[in-house]
Amino acid sequence: MNLLLKIILIKTLIFLSIVSKADTAPMSEAALRGLEIAQEHCSRCHVVGNENRYSSIETTPSFFGLRAMKDWRIRFTEFYIRPPHPALVNIVDVTERSKKLPAFVSEINLKLDQIDDLISYLEQLKKID
Ligand code: HEC
Repeated sequence: MNLLLKIILIKTLIFLSIVSKADTAPMSEAALRGLEIAQEHCSRCHVVGNENRYSSIETTPSFFGLRAMKDWRIRFTEFYIRPPHPALVNIVDVTERSKKLPAFVSEINLKLDQIDDLISYLEQLKKID
């Protein structure tokens, strides 16, 4: 492919990605941080968004399903004290590392304001399109 064609192709791709992003309502900064946290720490087990729809543990409730529940906010505010999380999630200055956790397993360390970010993300997560 000659250089000019490559440049045109790249510009088209950039244009398309901008257009397709404009289609969806922009996420707040807090929600974007929440998405990152979810992808990094929760997507191993949960479906956290469209990006990992097919790569979670099947028996684990998806964030879409949880979000559809009336009390989703409470569930996400205190998920770290609900099983199975106490064994794997540690909230800095709030909870302690689980004694059951083998020394070689690194726990998920989160701060309380990161829980707020997660909730901001969940707020705008409404449906699978
Ligand atoms: C090792 C796997 C695993 C990871 C990692 C994990 N979860 Fe879960 N989570 C589960 C399982 C399994 C359940 C279902 C528990 C049940 O139904 O008893 C669950 C349930 C939940 C629930 C519903 C709780 C309830 O009682 O209704 C919320 C909310 C939740 N997880 C949030 C999170 C968030 C946020 C993260 C990331 C910070 C996360 N989870 C990381 C396995 C995991």
